[in-house]
Amino acid sequence: MCGIIGCIGLRDVVPDLVEGLRRLEYRGYDSAGIAVLDGDEIGRRRVKGKVRDLEEDLRRHPLAGGCGIAHTRWATHGRPSEDNAHPHVDCSGTIALVHNGIVENYWSLKERLRGEGHVFRTETDTEVIVHLVEKYFRGSLEGAVRAAVAELEGAFAVACISSRDPGKIVVAKNGPPAVVGLGSGETFISSDITPLLSHTRRVSYMDDGEIAVLTPAGVRFETFAGAPVEKAVETLTWEPAMIEKRGFEHFMAKEIFEQADVVRDTLKSRVSLESGRVFLDDTGIAPAVFREVDRVVFIACGTSYHAGLVGKYLLETLAHVPVDVEYASELRSRDFAMDRRTLVLGISQSGETADTLAALRAAGEKARAVLAVTNNLNSSMARAADGILDLHAGPEIGVAATKTFVGQMAALALFALGFAQAREALGAGESLALVQELQRVPHKMDRVLGRAGDIERAARRYLACEHYLFLGRWINFPIALEGALKLKEISYTHAEGYAGGEMKHGPIALIDEKMTTLAIVPRDRVYEKMLSNIAEVQARSGRILAVAFEDDAKARAVAEEVFPIPEVHQLFSPFLTVLPLQLFAYYSAAAKGLDVDQPRNLAKSVTVE
Ligand code: M6R
Repeated sequence: MCGIIGCIGLRDVVPDLVEGLRRLEYRGYDSAGIAVLDGDEIGRRRVKGKVRDLEEDLRRHPLAGGCGIAHTRWATHGRPSEDNAHPHVDCSGTIALVHNGIVENYWSLKERLRGEGHVFRTETDTEVIVHLVEKYFRGSLEGAVRAAVAELEGAFAVACISSRDPGKIVVAKNGPPAVVGLGSGETFISSDITPLLSHTRRVSYMDDGEIAVLTPAGVRFETFAGAPVEKAVETLTWEPAMIEKRGFEHFMAKEIFEQADVVRDTLKSRVSLESGRVFLDDTGIAPAVFREVDRVVFIACGTSYHAGLVGKYLLETLAHVPVDVEYASELRSRDFAMDRRTLVLGISQSGETADTLAALRAAGEKARAVLAVTNNLNSSMARAADGILDLHAGPEIGVAATKTFVGQMAALALFALGFAQAREALGAGESLALVQELQRVPHKMDRVLGRAGDIERAARRYLACEHYLFLGRWINFPIALEGALKLKEISYTHAEGYAGGEMKHGPIALIDEKMTTLAIVPRDRVYEKMLSNIAEVQARSGRILAVAFEDDAKARAVAEEVFPIPEVHQLFSPFLTVLPLQLFAYYSAAAKGLDVDQPRNLAKSVTVE
């Protein structure tokens, strides 16, 4: 949550900081601010609102300087307001600081610092950090930061500047991500790599318990105790063009239309179309581990949890192994039995979700091995796990997850096949047929996406509809959950996802002419049962939309509108059925004129518990 960016160079860094904030805005967008060293003084601008509001403020009240920090906020402590917006300053106004994370012991620190004469001007937890830095400042900013972080409990990535020790930015990390970008004559700190791509490919990822001292010439790392740290410089592979909209009105639309390629990329070089073998060597987990465990547990939140459910059905069907899918936040509060015969997969596009990370770390102490299924190879989860299952989805900027969901399903399909093969649960012929069918999926996805215009028209026709029930069974039950989540989060429309079989146990009471049911009915092992569910809705005057095979006359006969998908193997239908639902949500939100890429109250990366 929250994005931080800092830059120190030989020219005015304000335009780069603002551009960087725009890239990080997906992390939080209720207020924004910037502070730069301008001669002997710190200049600061803050606004309640978005980065564009900060830009407007900067047009009216310009700032310039060669060393600065900036922040885009998702409020935790203190409501969104100009006063609570970062950067925060100390009593003297000579130290400014931005923070991502939560200081858990801020209340006792605040009481103590107040008693010592420090004056607090905000409702935030962050402000205690800048007062601690002030308290311990003896001429060296890094010395003061070192002393300050020793008193903090909780999670933090902070960046700090001071007019009393100019020429440097000091960063400390314990939890939230921080990556240093090494440019020529300029050095950056950022919450992720996206703002860095247009400046440099050379980066160093900070680890927990480290302090970085940035100057225009480079960076020096040390531990919280002050011991020097040597760090590798890594080269980024993402292209700057990957973080542009490329002609689409919203990132979400671009990302939806990239999904067939995500599946292609995920499969590339991991399957043999001759033998049907799946290669999971790049995960770093030995095949012997797959044979030795007798249970698999998926841990995730939100959309990643839905991908985990799809993974469960795949794994159960292909490998006949017991699978649990757990909400990370719930798992942490439970007495969950896990032993050395359990393999754990933490699923997270960002690899930074606080609940998933904590649950994954705890699982690592008990389980046989922990695998991170993530789109971020340098994330905290990737580092904490024994192995990584990479999504190959490229940067996802829209806050609503789309292509990473499909990437997760593709990665989990491969995992299920490889796991089943390692345990000899799948015959060679069956493996080959499945791998070849999976290879055909992206082409079929393109066919569905080619009909986006029909879905846009349908979304406009149903704009006045305020209540939706998404129904699916078996492997499309998670897709019903995901379709409902997408509609809720970006179009603010009430939608519930249910397993078709559960409808008669309660939700059927909601059915009337004002409730629209979106039924997912590919011709699979539960097809007839889903048709019965549709009949039950029809009998109660409910409106029906359906996702069904192109030639499905039965679905056409009962639904007001059918979103057709090509025929596909029943295990892989979620790759197709999810597409009309994502598009329906997208076009509904866009037609309402909503902020599709940055829906209210949300943030892409939830690094608070
Ligand atoms: O980065 P993660 O996959 O761990 O994120 C998990 C959820 O926060 C995320 O899927 C969230 O539900 C999205 N808003 C879904 O669109």
